[in-house]
Amino acid sequence: MFPERRMRRIRRRAIQPLVRETRITKEDLIAPLFIDENAREPIPIASMPGQFRYPIQSVGTIAQRLRDVGIRAVILFGIPEIKDAEASGAYAEEGVIQQAVRAIRAVVPDMVIITDLCACEYTDHGHCGIILKEGSETEPDNDASLELMQKIAISQAMSGADIVAPSCMLDGMVTSIRDALDRAGFYEVSIMSYSTKFASALYGPFRDAADSGSFSGDRTTYQMDVANKKEAFLESELDATEGADFLMVKPGGWFLDIVRDITELGLPLVVYQVSGEYAMIRAAAQNGWLDEKKTVIESLICIKRAGASLIITYFAEDVCRWLDEV
Ligand code: PBG
Ligand code: ZN
Repeated sequence: MFPERRMRRIRRRAIQPLVRETRITKEDLIAPLFIDENAREPIPIASMPGQFRYPIQSVGTIAQRLRDVGIRAVILFGIPEIKDAEASGAYAEEGVIQQAVRAIRAVVPDMVIITDLCACEYTDHGHCGIILKEGSETEPDNDASLELMQKIAISQAMSGADIVAPSCMLDGMVTSIRDALDRAGFYEVSIMSYSTKFASALYGPFRDAADSGSFSGDRTTYQMDVANKKEAFLESELDATEGADFLMVKPGGWFLDIVRDITELGLPLVVYQVSGEYAMIRAAAQNGWLDEKKTVIESLICIKRAGASLIITYFAEDVCRWLDEV
């Protein structure tokens, strides 16, 4: 008796590349960059070995280096010199992000520049918007914070951002940002909404990176419960209806069922492999417990297989170099 089907035939070494269904390409990747207004030289981020907070003066060079390995898009996070209750550093004409966008544009004109649109790196209290009432459920006031996001969006667009990426989880954020951008004439600036963003433990290392380590509250009254799948779909569906150009699921690897669901909406879907996912792989690799290259590539292939169109990953530059090796 012979087996009826021999699946091993298509696993012969020479056949494998012909039947591979999913591939990571450089065009899939978006590299995050942290820019620190106070930094005079790159500052290593302790919980994210290999990642740095860059001074404004060096972002042009860094962007050029990324472009040279084949990265087409970066997403920028700013750490302002001064934080306050209103997040005024987020929409200042000479704010850290505004300066960084202009610096990158001057050196690498064709880089797609995405700006994270949130208040938490700029507020002294660390929340993602304006606080009107303090109490057991201290959280940003939704509608007051929408006005803040409109101001930040316009300021980022004026500095030359191609895409703004609201991550504040405010209801109605896409409608109000779209409206503000259009009224200011920025029809061509896209909105990449962090449409389905969970309140995840995996953002821990980002707190180090964005200098929001003293943040004592939590974001569970506006970010989503990781247990909720139907609500996750609804969140992205709403943002699609409001006119988002890109949707996002964040974090990535543990949320692939959600990714799969949201592909149904038909918009380009971005998956954010977050700081904790990076830290876990890096730490295990540094200990010799996991093969870094194999683990990273597998993690990204799986994200893409689930339906991601684009992946934000701190491994972006490494992956480009690995892709050049073969
Ligand atoms: C800001 C923001 C966060 C991340 C991206 N944008 C932090 C948070 O919401 O707590 C996390 C990214 C990461 O962990 O890599 N709202
Ligand atoms: Zn935020």
